[in-house]
Amino acid sequence: MFRKLFGAALLAALPASMAIAQNDAAQVSVTVDLSKPGAVIDRHIYGQFAEHLGTGIYGGIWVGENSKIPNIHGYRSDVVAALKKIHVPVIRWPGGCFADLYNWRDGIGPRAKRPTRINVHWGGVTDDNAFGTHEFMNFAELVGADPYVSINVGSLPPYDAAQWVEYMTSSENATLANERRANGRDKPWNLKYLGIGNETWGCGGNMNGEYAASINARYSSFVNAPASMGMIKVASGATGNVSGRGDAESFTAAMMKDGGRLQALSFHYYAMPMGKDRGPATGFGENLWARELDLARDMEPLVTKVSAVMDKYDPEKKVALYVDEWGSWYNQEPGSHPGFLYQQNSLRDAEVAALTLDIFHRHTDRVKLAAIAQMVNVLQAMILTDGPKMVLTPTYHVFDMYQPFMEATPFEASVKGPDYSFDGHAMPMVDVSVARGKDGKLYMALVNTDPHRPAHVVTNLSGVGKGHILTGPAMDTHNTFDVPDAIHPVAFSGTSQGGKAVFDLPSKSVAVVEVQ
Ligand code: AHR
Repeated sequence: MFRKLFGAALLAALPASMAIAQNDAAQVSVTVDLSKPGAVIDRHIYGQFAEHLGTGIYGGIWVGENSKIPNIHGYRSDVVAALKKIHVPVIRWPGGCFADLYNWRDGIGPRAKRPTRINVHWGGVTDDNAFGTHEFMNFAELVGADPYVSINVGSLPPYDAAQWVEYMTSSENATLANERRANGRDKPWNLKYLGIGNETWGCGGNMNGEYAASINARYSSFVNAPASMGMIKVASGATGNVSGRGDAESFTAAMMKDGGRLQALSFHYYAMPMGKDRGPATGFGENLWARELDLARDMEPLVTKVSAVMDKYDPEKKVALYVDEWGSWYNQEPGSHPGFLYQQNSLRDAEVAALTLDIFHRHTDRVKLAAIAQMVNVLQAMILTDGPKMVLTPTYHVFDMYQPFMEATPFEASVKGPDYSFDGHAMPMVDVSVARGKDGKLYMALVNTDPHRPAHVVTNLSGVGKGHILTGPAMDTHNTFDVPDAIHPVAFSGTSQGGKAVFDLPSKSVAVVEVQ
């Protein structure tokens, strides 16, 4: 719940160490051009990724009906409630790298009879397949999200994927639909998105672009849901993290050229430092703050580059770009199980999330879906769990604050002000996104990337902006199981000066306000 603190009360609500020294504030001006609306912000850019990885599924979502942890048919009640609150629009499953060694038949039928497999990609642990097709599709329905299922193109023939899709989506009196009915689900599920493999250039098969394009064309020919379902097939695309095989430019070009008639093409990019030491998730210095935000901002040139290649083959922009894996990636927490990618989540990650969502708002002509990696307990998570305990992360709070941008119409905003720079990393100190929500109101997101300096932001909009802000005393302010509410949004409002909406934005903060 947002705290109900308004206006000057924010200053009182912030610790003394964060009191705003107005004299020191950077002067920033924001000009919004309300005459040029962009393409609507598809709510699916607020999507999530849930892979069989670490405790992302088992423990994080699924505890089973017999667990002492309160649950709804085996799904953690606390996690379900938190996800419902942010209106998760889409969830991608079962991987990731996991998807290309996954056999859907392992995860249907009585749980006691399901095989136990080794999760070779992630920690070498066993997976008893208690969470399979029914558990995922029912979970998506429970949360109110569209399901996005990625098929195995790396290690199973197209026939298996075709059967899986028929099992999920057929309403006929046919063997696979009847098997689904016998397993407890009468009606077909509404399968909105189907991923044709994952990272085919890497863990999904180490394919070159031309081969991956042919594989996409082949598999997508055979996997079909009833036309009335409008299922979208998503070709597996490039990465922004490596050059060579999955290279953003050449791999995208190969897919666009030879991948068949694409409906959507994916792209992955992690704000992940190169090398083995990716730095800690908390307890870092300003060099790692600046480096991480700089890495997050690289999403913009990457999306621009990939879009430009797509424009060449698809000038009418019929093929959507789905950034279906993104987020911060650090060293996993000391003492956590190797390969589980479990990391804390701090104010720095809130900034990564806000900057990235703002970038997607600026590319709505192409970017129609995105999925942060990952929803619970893995990488840049919304939610962390430990047995019966759960905390909401600063990233969760950003997704909550940004809800008015779902299906909103964005406008161009130009920002004039100083850069924040440290240790060779330079970026605009204030990042802004403005859009008119479905409710007809105008919303503005403001991110102050400077960990020390407040900004005095003068806009060309009128009235007094009101909303919420997320900030904290330290760059790595975060919630723990012992102190689960150390960082949460508080009410925030600006002032009206000379008829203009003005904001005193504290250092290292993310705000979303309603303006006139
Ligand atoms: O999200 C973790 C992993 O990162 C995914 O399994 C894979 O697709 C990517 O490389």
